[in-house]
Amino acid sequence: MSKTIFVLNGPNLNMLGKREPGIYGGKTLADVEADCLKAGAELGLDVDFRQSNHEGDLVSWIHEAGEKAVGVAINAGAYTHTSIALHDAIKAVSPLPVIEVHISNVHAREEFRHKSMIAPACKGVICGFGPQSYILALQALKTITQ
Ligand code: DQA
Repeated sequence: MSKTIFVLNGPNLNMLGKREPGIYGGKTLADVEADCLKAGAELGLDVDFRQSNHEGDLVSWIHEAGEKAVGVAINAGAYTHTSIALHDAIKAVSPLPVIEVHISNVHAREEFRHKSMIAPACKGVICGFGPQSYILALQALKTITQ
């Protein structure tokens, strides 16, 4: 039976492709979704890919993952740096493995991006590999959920 992974995306990630392409590259979120579905199929993972600009949607989807998924990869966008609610939601579904994902290397950018509110609640963090960060997270989830 194939395992379900939720891949969750936060604010402004719907703008990928148009948004600061020097930092985030030229792929759209639909391209990233297609890459994740393809990688998921190869890994035997059923990828449920979602995006919202609203913090509460992300909180509810993490709760839903606690019922339906074996793991989560989340690019919480700027909520990464601010959201205690996302930290608490990840803790609330523990021990479900949640991996924090970023396209850019947040540590090589502005200081306000160096702090993650969700990292202490996550299994691990992958950042700086462009859209490949998502695929690396899927590979990691495949390994740790075996
Ligand atoms: C991001 C990094 C965040 O700091 C930023 O707010 C984003 C995108 C990334 O994928 O590199 O929206 O999460």
